[in-house]
Amino acid sequence: MPIILKVNELEPGMVLAANIMNEFSVLLAHGRKLNEMDIRSLERKFPDLMVQVIDPVLDDMVTFDDDRHDQEVSREVRRNVAGVIQKVSHIVRGGVALTGENVAGMQQVIEEMMRYLEENPVTMAILEQSQNWSGYLQEHSANVFYLSLVIGNTIRNYIRQERQRLSAASMIHNAMNLAPLATAAMFHDIGMAPIEHFYQKEGPLSDQEKELIRAHPVRGAEMLPEEMDPMIRLVVRSHHENQDGSGYPDQIPGDRINIFARIVRLADAYVAATATKVYQKAKSPICVLYEMLYGAYRNLYDPVLLKVFSSVTQPLPIGAKIKLESGQWAVVVSHNRHNPFSPQVIVAFDEWGDPLRKEDLKPPFYLGERDDVRVLSFGQEDLRFLNDLGAPPDTPSSDRVVSVCADMLDFCYP
Ligand SMILES: [Fe+2]
Ligand SMILES: [Fe+2]
Repeated sequence: MPIILKVNELEPGMVLAANIMNEFSVLLAHGRKLNEMDIRSLERKFPDLMVQVIDPVLDDMVTFDDDRHDQEVSREVRRNVAGVIQKVSHIVRGGVALTGENVAGMQQVIEEMMRYLEENPVTMAILEQSQNWSGYLQEHSANVFYLSLVIGNTIRNYIRQERQRLSAASMIHNAMNLAPLATAAMFHDIGMAPIEHFYQKEGPLSDQEKELIRAHPVRGAEMLPEEMDPMIRLVVRSHHENQDGSGYPDQIPGDRINIFARIVRLADAYVAATATKVYQKAKSPICVLYEMLYGAYRNLYDPVLLKVFSSVTQPLPIGAKIKLESGQWAVVVSHNRHNPFSPQVIVAFDEWGDPLRKEDLKPPFYLGERDDVRVLSFGQEDLRFLNDLGAPPDTPSSDRVVSVCADMLDFCYP
C-alpha cells in the first residue's frame, strides 16, 4: 500500500502509487518517478494536494487494509455521473428547460450506477476532489450523488439486517427504492447551472447574486420535468433545509424534512466544504468532519445521519503518514467504522523520517488509545485536538436511529 504525503513533503525519486487526477483526467500517471520539476510544478499549482507514493520498505514490513476496490468503485460512479451533469448543464445553460426525454437517458445512467454500487458494495466512501474549479458543478454533483447513495445504502442494509435479525423478513415488500434519492442527488444543484459562472467569480458576491443563489433550490425544482416523481422535486427544493430549522427556502425543522433531502444536505455540505473554490480554500476532510460532529455546525444535520456518515468516512486515509508529538511518524493501516478519528495505526518511522527496523515495529493500535502516543499533525495540519477527543455531543439514542429508519421506510413505501 502507498503512503500519503502532502505535496511539499515529496522528494525527487519517489514513485507515484496512484494517478494524480484533475477532473477525471490524468495529470501525472501512476508509476511515475517524480523529479524536481514535477514536484515544484505540483506545489505551485496545487499547494494542498495529498499524494500517494510507493514505499517499498514499509510495504515489505506492514500489512495494510486494501482500499483500492473502494477507490475504483467511487471513481467509476463519479466519472459516469459527471458526464451526465455536463450534458444537463449544457442544456439548461442555453435556456432550454429539461424535458422528460432528456431525463430518460440520464435516468438510465442513474439506474446503472445504482446497480453497479449494489453489486460492488464499498466499505468506505472515498472521494477525490480535484484542485480545479472550472468543472465545479459536475464534480460537485457527482460527489454528492456518490456520497448520498453510500449513506442511503448503508441505512438500507442496516434496516434489512435488523429485519432479518428480528425474523420479520415477511415484512419486506420489495427492495427499498433509493432511486428518488439518487436522482435528486444528481440534480440537486441544477438550479445553479444557469448561474454556474458565480463559482468562478473572484471577490464578494453582490446582494442580488446572493439572492439568486438562495433561490437555486426552488428554481432547480421548477426546472425538472413535470412528469418526474414529485418526491425528487421536493428533495431538490429542500436540500438546504437545516435540522434546526435555520435553512432555506422554507425553514422546515428536521423532523419534517424529507429523509432523502436530509441525506443530500449532509453529503452536499461535506463535499462543498472539502472542495477548493475560487473564493475559499478547501478544508481538510478531518477538519470538516470534526466541525460537523463536534462544532457549531452539528445542529444543521440529522444526528443519526451524521453517525451513519461518520461510519463510512475516512478523514485519515489508509497510508496517511501522521507526525507524532514524539517526533516519530505513524501510518494508518486500517479504518475504524466506530470512530473515524481513531483509525488503526502503526508507528513506522523514527524522528528523522527513516523507517524503523522490522524487529522494532510494535503491533497496530487505535489512534488515541495509548497515552504515550500523541498526534501532532497530518500534512502539516495541526491535529493535536485528536488527543483529547471525547464522544461527540448529541450522540443519537437508539430510539432516534429507529425513527430515522422508519422515516426512510415511509418514504420508500409511501
Ligand atoms: Fe445547493
Ligand atoms: Fe450542492
